[in-house]
Amino acid sequence: MSVVEQTLKGKIAVVTGASSGIGEATACALCERGASIVLAARNREKLDALERKITAAGGRVMTVETDVSNAASVEAMIEQTTAAFGAVDVLVNNAGLGLSGKVAEVRADDLRYVFEVNVIGALNCTQAALPRMRPGGRIINVSSVVGKRAIPKVGAYCATKSALNALSDALRVEVADKGITVTSVYPGTTRTEFRDNSRRTKDEKRGWRPKGVTPDRVAEKIARAAEKGGREVYVTLPDHVYIAAVTLFPGLTDRILRRWAKD
Ligand SMILES: NC(=O)c1ccc[n+]([C@@H]2O[C@H](COP(=O)([O-])OP(=O)(O)OC[C@H]3O[C@@H](n4cnc5c(N)ncnc54)[C@H](OP(=O)(O)O)[C@@H]3O)[C@@H](O)[C@H]2O)c1
Repeated sequence: MSVVEQTLKGKIAVVTGASSGIGEATACALCERGASIVLAARNREKLDALERKITAAGGRVMTVETDVSNAASVEAMIEQTTAAFGAVDVLVNNAGLGLSGKVAEVRADDLRYVFEVNVIGALNCTQAALPRMRPGGRIINVSSVVGKRAIPKVGAYCATKSALNALSDALRVEVADKGITVTSVYPGTTRTEFRDNSRRTKDEKRGWRPKGVTPDRVAEKIARAAEKGGREVYVTLPDHVYIAAVTLFPGLTDRILRRWAKD
């Protein structure tokens, strides 16, 4: 790990979905800045491997096998965090998965499951951590650009991220007086195992998508939010411009996206 300023020294950070991709990179980025890290996800082997890597680099880290969709599992993880470290300063709600399929075909049970992880999971973690957070606390919710403007063939997944955005917006205002900030992060395509881990409705072809950014690039933005808070974070300028444009020209966006809706 490279040497960076210890801006988060003494802070305790919980990262969900830390066994892979953006969560793994975020755990490393926060650790580099001096935070003590709690790695939360279900895959024990992957978490243990990351724990060994961070410990070898001199970081302070703890692994807690957690299913974010299970409130008892989340409560136990936060209990263990406070027992070991005393508080929670930063919560990164990153655990999540995708779901592909047209709205006309997507199975309600699949959407329910993805909601349980992407939305209720973040809610469970937030509700468990909030009572233990002090002024200066930071909640960072990993959304997606497609949570700002849904696109065809992944509408159900987009719905989960839009729901997460709504929770973030309300919570931001509710906890502002407590000195706690809530940041929504909107990555575009990121090179992780996300696609392989996504649920599929049929045997959808994996169509074209942008090359995307590395998870480290997203992690840098999340680490910045852990340092300074902030309302909304885009990872790249084109992502930000894209969202501004589709918000300004929704009808034109519909017409352009109709190409994507074709089989
Ligand atoms: N990759 C992209 O293009 C992209 C773009 C925008 C937003 N995002 C968002 O970024 C976040 C991270 O995704 P990623 O790209 O890093 O994908 P990933 O490599 O598939 O990682 C997903 C992580 O979520 C964890 N997870 C899934 N279900 C869980 C559960 N029930 N309880 C606890 N952890 C769970 C997984 O760990 P276990 O399997 O070990 O539990 C894994 O660590 C997601 O919220 C995703 O929606 C991704």
